[in-house]
Parts: sequence; structure tokens; C-alpha cells
Amino acid sequence: MRHLLHLDSSLRGEGSRSRKLSAHFADRWRTENPDGIVTYRDLAADPVPHLDDVAFFAQFVAEPDRTPEQAAAMAVGTQLIEEVLAADTVLIGLPLYNFGPPSTFKAWFDRIVSQRTAGKLGDKKFVVVSARGGGYGPGTPREGWDHREPWLRHALTSLGVEDAIFIDAELTLARESPNMIPLDLGAAEDQSLSDALAAIDNLFLTDKSLRA
Ligand SMILES: Cc1cc2nc3c(=O)[nH]c(=O)nc-3n(C[C@H](O)[C@H](O)[C@H](O)COP(=O)(O)O)c2cc1C
Repeated sequence: MRHLLHLDSSLRGEGSRSRKLSAHFADRWRTENPDGIVTYRDLAADPVPHLDDVAFFAQFVAEPDRTPEQAAAMAVGTQLIEEVLAADTVLIGLPLYNFGPPSTFKAWFDRIVSQRTAGKLGDKKFVVVSARGGGYGPGTPREGWDHREPWLRHALTSLGVEDAIFIDAELTLARESPNMIPLDLGAAEDQSLSDALAAIDNLFLTDKSLRA
């Protein structure tokens, strides 16, 4: 049976564009995979604890030799890793925060990188639907400042994932940020969001691996 792991990480609720995009993808996925299973995790509402000394080094201790503290620390990561291993498709709602990913997502990612996942996730499709307040396209002053995508692409490569798909909606603060309102980019914001929604629809038309 097909299995979607759906993660969100925006600190916003209703107004979040990355949540809107990930919900659209998940709805399409459910339509295409009526018998499929969806596991949902909201990394902002239910944050994964940061990796600490005990949790990191517990993985280097053989299971029977672990202290109760090490065993409990390992269990947190093990559950998250099992969720990834069970999935065919991993959908990530990922805003841009201070030119990188939300720390809640990084805390999750630090837990799933392990000997069980390194180089071994190449059979899974990773789809990242993202939102960013400004504009980062070719020729813009901040082209190349969105370090989230290159970072995650490289990090996923270490897990064997070479073909992660990124779909972005940008200029999302055009009507909200006092610095951006005078630029009158509302129409461009709307266009970017509708392009991202259309890109998701197109993915379901062109990628057979997303259909049962
Ligand atoms: C803590 C924080 C940091 C942000 N940093 C950036 C940034 O570096 N560049 C940018 O373009 N937008 C930045 N934004 C704006 C968000 O990227 C934008 O609001 C985006 O739509 C967030 O995704 P969401 O709509 O899913 O919440 C930031 C927002 C927050 C809350």
C-alpha cells in the first residue's frame, strides 16, 4: 500500500502558503491513491526535541549496552526514521526563515540522518513545497540568498536522494511587510502562488510514481 509522509513546519496557521501548498499536494495524492496511508507531522505545533549529547552518542552504543537514558533518546529518532522508511513519498512544507530552513525542520532532519538512512533513501520521492517572503529569482538582488534549497539538496544527497523536487511560492510578504507594500507586488505574489499550485497539479500528471 502506498504511503505519504506529510510534514509542515510553518509557524503560521491559516495564512501559511507552504501549508496551503502541502495541503493541495496531499489532497491530490489522496485522490490518486484512495487506498493509501498518510502520516502527518506538524513540526511547528509538535516540535522534535533538538539532538543532544545523549541522543547523538547513543547510536554508537550496541542496543543491549545502552543506558535507560540512551534507550529513551534513541526511541525519539527511531520513531521518526520508521515514518520515513515506511513512506514512498515524503512531502515537506518548508518556509524560508532567515535565509535557511525553520529550526523545527532542522531538528527533525538531524534526527533522521543515521546509519539506517545514510545513502538508503534513494527509492523515495522527496517533494518540498516552500514559501518565501521576498523574491529570489534570476537577476534579483537576492538571487542565491535562499540557502535552504541548496542545503537540503546536498543533505538529501547524503541520504541517497538525488532528485528532490522543489516548488516555491514567493513574494508572500508583498501585502504584509511595510518594506514590501510600496513595491506593489501583490499581483506577482498571486501569480507565484498560482504557478506553484499549477506545478503541483502538473507533477501528478507527469510523474507516474505519485499515482497508484
Ligand atoms: C522568522 C522568520 C524569518 C523569515 N526570514 C525570511 C527570509 O530570510 N527571507 C524571506 O524572503 N522571507 C523571510 N520570512 C518570510 C517567510 O519566508 C514568508 O512569510 C513565508 O511565506 C513563510 O512561509 P509560510 O507562508 O508557509 O508561513 C521570514 C519569516 C519569519 C517568520
